[in-house]
Amino acid sequence: MNNFSRLIVNWYRLNKRSLPWREELNPYYIWLSEIILQQTKVDQGIPYYFKFVQKYPTIIKLANVEEKEVLNDWQGLGYYSRARNLHYSAKHIRDKLNGEFPKNYNEILKLKGVGKYTAAAISSFAFNEKKAVVDGNVYRLLSRYFDISTPIDSSSGIKEFQEIADSLINNENPGEHNQAIMEIGALICIPKKPKCTYCPLAEKCISFIKGNIQNRPIKKTRLKRKKRFFHYLIFNHNEELIVEKRTKKDIWKNMYQFPLIEAKNIDEKIDLNMFKNKLFESSIRKHILSHQIIYVKFHHFNSTYNFNKNCFKIKKSEIGNYPIPRIIDKYLEEQTLF
Ligand code: ADE
Repeated sequence: MNNFSRLIVNWYRLNKRSLPWREELNPYYIWLSEIILQQTKVDQGIPYYFKFVQKYPTIIKLANVEEKEVLNDWQGLGYYSRARNLHYSAKHIRDKLNGEFPKNYNEILKLKGVGKYTAAAISSFAFNEKKAVVDGNVYRLLSRYFDISTPIDSSSGIKEFQEIADSLINNENPGEHNQAIMEIGALICIPKKPKCTYCPLAEKCISFIKGNIQNRPIKKTRLKRKKRFFHYLIFNHNEELIVEKRTKKDIWKNMYQFPLIEAKNIDEKIDLNMFKNKLFESSIRKHILSHQIIYVKFHHFNSTYNFNKNCFKIKKSEIGNYPIPRIIDKYLEEQTLF
């Protein structure tokens, strides 16, 4: 084992968090945990991991339910394409791969929703394949340790960091090495106020020695999120609601919402006069996604309306049976009317 790997693995053995998917060798469960953790913090992900493992103990069980049920179980985690891809891949494994999870990096990478990071994580954790993970934690840690100024979101940066990570991983326990480097990134080499005094790598960390920690990593772009303005119409009449299925290629595909009017900007006046018995409207709420900011206002009506072909009537008590975006779910939780 090289010195870098020895230092991080020794640290990891003494300091790692005990997490339910660690020590797990079933690639299906590891895959599940990695998809849940893609855009979700560990604390928030744990209950969902347990829910999925309990409800779908095998890939076949996951493949055999309707997508709608998986989306419903995913509710609250957001970024629902993860759940759709998970379900799609479970069906693919059932139908095309004999029900067996693929056993190496190249085959795992072919699954929908699995990129290089996730394929490296699963193949190294489950099969001890020597593939280095590079996630946000690893970019940050390596950019500091070697004091690298190449932007981590440039194509040359992506290549350079992958090469460095590949050169550091050891032959004996690549899975543990990967867990270790990510764990130090998550617990010690954190974005703000890293805990360098506890870091096993500090002695050789060039940014630490130079006092340059706060300037690493370098990013090329500050992401500009597209702004969108949603007006939801809640037709709540005789204990019934109108809901709309989202069918277009857009966020929240195949999920359910209230009839929606999308405005071009926050000041655009939308004409709601054709809808009867308006009760009240909410304040504007903000929902931040990775590439978009959605501003949402809810308009309540004590009437009903045949809004468009994707709309239908449900009993108010049935709303819980439909996967709905978190911003709507949260709003309804706050409404004493519901
Ligand atoms: N984030 C992504 N994968 C993880 C893992 N296996 N353990 C902890 N945090 C993670």
